[in-house]
Amino acid sequence: MSLYDYLLTQDGIITKESLLYPFEERGLQFGDGVYEVIRIYQGTFDLLEEHIERLYRSADAIRLEVPFAKDALIASLVQLTEKNDVQTDAKLYLQITRGSAPREHSFPDVPSNFYAYIEPSERPVSLLQKGVRTILADDIRWDLCYIKSLNLLPNILAKQTAKDKGAFEAILHKDGIVTEGSSSNVFIIKDDILFTHPAAANILHGCVRSRVLALAPNAGLQVKEAAFTIDQLLQADEVFITSTTSEIMPVIEIEGKQIGDGTPGDKTRALQRAYEKESGIQATAFA
Ligand code: PDD
Repeated sequence: MSLYDYLLTQDGIITKESLLYPFEERGLQFGDGVYEVIRIYQGTFDLLEEHIERLYRSADAIRLEVPFAKDALIASLVQLTEKNDVQTDAKLYLQITRGSAPREHSFPDVPSNFYAYIEPSERPVSLLQKGVRTILADDIRWDLCYIKSLNLLPNILAKQTAKDKGAFEAILHKDGIVTEGSSSNVFIIKDDILFTHPAAANILHGCVRSRVLALAPNAGLQVKEAAFTIDQLLQADEVFITSTTSEIMPVIEIEGKQIGDGTPGDKTRALQRAYEKESGIQATAFA
């Protein structure tokens, strides 16, 4: 299925055919903007306010003005799902750039460009059941990865390397420390302690990450937001990654090395179940 017909822009809801950007667009020429990907389950947003809060933080960090007040933006996004009559599982993509202007590095004095669109997107149920293989890759990104910036070249290259090797995700590391995935956050479980990299400037503060940390104590896990090494990753009892589209995805192999017994672990399963309950979505049949 392709995109839903209507987009939201700073000028209101329009059909997707009517969005025509000039080639001198800051997102196109500089990656000068920020974005969000937001989950929709059966027509209803999940973690919407959390994503919008992060969007404003990202925009502030690059001195970019969001052309809506927060409440108005949330209301308009809900309106967009209604206008498109979204009933399915889907995802919304939105981005804001520093506008369209003759190419010059410094900021132009023009309004920002905003658009949001919705695309059908099924939950990756079979992978959530079986788990995924991953690779390791150097984290060659800049220091401000908490900004959800349009500049994703290092992420794209790492993801493609993973794909070329038949893996689902590249787990990034810098100076021996695991930071996050190319498009996900990374967690390990060792002796009933859940570890994930602290929400520092060098990782994205994932919305699913926050929900997992809140759910963990009820799943019998102690939480430690502490950096861990590649060795700790490979020796973990359980490993999983999280993102809006991947939810809580068990990792069963890293660089060909099996994690645990090579199947998703019990604590990961408990978190997956808790996550489904919290999001109000259908429970997956786990073996
Ligand atoms: N990516 N880290 C990175 C680098 C990401 O790109 C993402 C999400 C996450 C997880 O964040 P969240 O839980 O808020 O989705 C962590 C989105 C899905 C994307 O770029 O498509």
